[in-house]
Amino acid sequence: MDVIMIRLDKYLADMSVGTRTEVKKLIRQGKVAVDGLIVKNPDVKIDIDTQSVTCNGIAVTYETYEYYMLNKPAGVISATSDSKQKTVLDLIDSKKRKDLFPVGRLDKDTEGLLLITNDGELAHRLLSPKKHVDKLYYARVEGIVDTEDIDAFAKGLDIGEDECTKPAKLVVLKSDAISEIELTIQEGKFHQVKRMFEAVGKKVIYLKRLEMGTLKLDEDLGLGEYRPLTQKEIEKLC
Ligand code: URA
Repeated sequence: MDVIMIRLDKYLADMSVGTRTEVKKLIRQGKVAVDGLIVKNPDVKIDIDTQSVTCNGIAVTYETYEYYMLNKPAGVISATSDSKQKTVLDLIDSKKRKDLFPVGRLDKDTEGLLLITNDGELAHRLLSPKKHVDKLYYARVEGIVDTEDIDAFAKGLDIGEDECTKPAKLVVLKSDAISEIELTIQEGKFHQVKRMFEAVGKKVIYLKRLEMGTLKLDEDLGLGEYRPLTQKEIEKLC
């Protein structure tokens, strides 16, 4: 196994103990111990697998990657920070890393599965159009959704981009004045699901993401709740 050594000030800053300047101050003030001994030099290198670090007597364990599944509620934006609006990261109370981000965007009024991580490689693999990762959505749609729509979605739709959408699988759960559907798409264009229904003259009035690749929304998570991914979920995704 590779030995990973990280400077003490970076170690603490990565784990959101404070900014680089703040943690350097804490270190110089003698608030930080490594393997039980006070260390006042922020440049000291820490072996993240074998050494223990405390700050003000509280253990600070290092996480290289974090992976959270969030059941995003409506009203929260898919961004890392915002001066006015609540972001999906504001909902992750137990986060340690300061470099977490949502993998792809859900609209402010969309609910459901959102992966939050700092694993850029995984995010790239899940979002790259070349990787053809399925995303499953549930939606309620104004108007009767019928077999004509199923065919149109399967063929590809003109949503005002240079190219038509890739074939998408539309399953009608209920066809009525307000229809209920499940839609699997492999792309992630801006407002894609809403624009696909607009292209067939219908309006999405509720949208929720249920799955992304192998990752399925945990039904035990209420809106706004989250949990770390299990080891199995991480392995399957990677
Ligand atoms: N498609 C949309 O229209 N909105 C989302 O939030 C996700 C997919």
